[in-house]
Amino acid sequence: MAAVVCCRRFSVAYLANKRFMSSDGIRKGLVGMMGNTPLVRLNTMSEETGCEILAKAEFCNGGGSVKDRAALFLIQDALQKGQLKPGGTVVEGTAGNTGIGLAHMCLSMGFKCVIYMPNNQSREKIELLETLGAEVRPVPVVAWSDPANYNHQAREFADSIENAIWTNQFDNTANRQAHIETTGPEIWNQTGGNVDAVTFGTGTGGTLAGVGTFLKEKNPNIQVVLADPQGSVLCNYIKHGKLERSEGSSITEGIGQGRVTKNLEGAPIDDALTILDTDAVNMTFRLLHEEGFFVGASTGLNVSAAVQVAQKMGPGHTVVTCLCDTGHKYYAKLYNRKVIEEKGLLDCIPEKYRVSLHD
Ligand SMILES: Cc1ncc(COP(=O)(O)O)c(C=O)c1O
Repeated sequence: MAAVVCCRRFSVAYLANKRFMSSDGIRKGLVGMMGNTPLVRLNTMSEETGCEILAKAEFCNGGGSVKDRAALFLIQDALQKGQLKPGGTVVEGTAGNTGIGLAHMCLSMGFKCVIYMPNNQSREKIELLETLGAEVRPVPVVAWSDPANYNHQAREFADSIENAIWTNQFDNTANRQAHIETTGPEIWNQTGGNVDAVTFGTGTGGTLAGVGTFLKEKNPNIQVVLADPQGSVLCNYIKHGKLERSEGSSITEGIGQGRVTKNLEGAPIDDALTILDTDAVNMTFRLLHEEGFFVGASTGLNVSAAVQVAQKMGPGHTVVTCLCDTGHKYYAKLYNRKVIEEKGLLDCIPEKYRVSLHD
């Protein structure tokens, strides 16, 4: 626990309070910067499709991604259930945005943060989490079925110490609840209820399931579309009910799944699309050069899916998705010419936009 300094103490009632934004619009600390993100019209894509293509700017959350919502709700759920007390330890198995979100929340709320991750993850990811005050424990890469898998080790460690929780982002439905209580209502209010479809890439499934659940209750005609990267099994599962292993992998990070998580279970999903890396990467660079948004590939995938949904529905519809996070974390891969060339993705980036690739 050497990396962690934890000196402030807050009451459970204070930490578990969801009303972090005061009526004058002033956010209460970093935790208050979870949610109420802008809804942005993507002008080029809207004009091209004759639809309104709108996106929640999730990189405006305090920890910089869509996962901050889940991170806060996972912690607050444990506080409300008495599983975590002020000054305790939050443990998760993740190499991605949930770890970053949890680390930020822990600093802001006075918890310790311990992150287990497979030891094949990049040095930058480990260093970033350490910079954010987390203790990072890289463990050997083994399958979920092996008790030494990083997720099981995270759970066991949390069970072995006092006042600690394993947040379990995949199967703890406090994650989905974050989107039922925040993202869904925000989309409904910001569009004045004028929304025809939503589409999101799925990692834990929290965003899609939560937003879909809330919006379907408001209007069952709103189409909920799962956007799947290549190599993920979910599109086939939604369309044909079959969970089959799928060949291939994707340059996108944080999305794609091999199973139906508890967060996704029972979600009201109307349709699914597989978005190829060529389309996701093309859209990522278009978003940068045509709209000015420097984003990661899961955002490119989301917007590419939104455009496809809009084209299928025809002009006059409103399709909502999200800009998950910024491109900074992916600079070494997604914005690297050699990596893009090796993955055979150079041709899908319009020539005039390749200036954004570095050596
Ligand atoms: C960059 C990025 N986009 C999208 C998602 C998917 O969100 P969810 O887990 O709610 O399905 C994640 C999840 O980690 C992510 O890191």
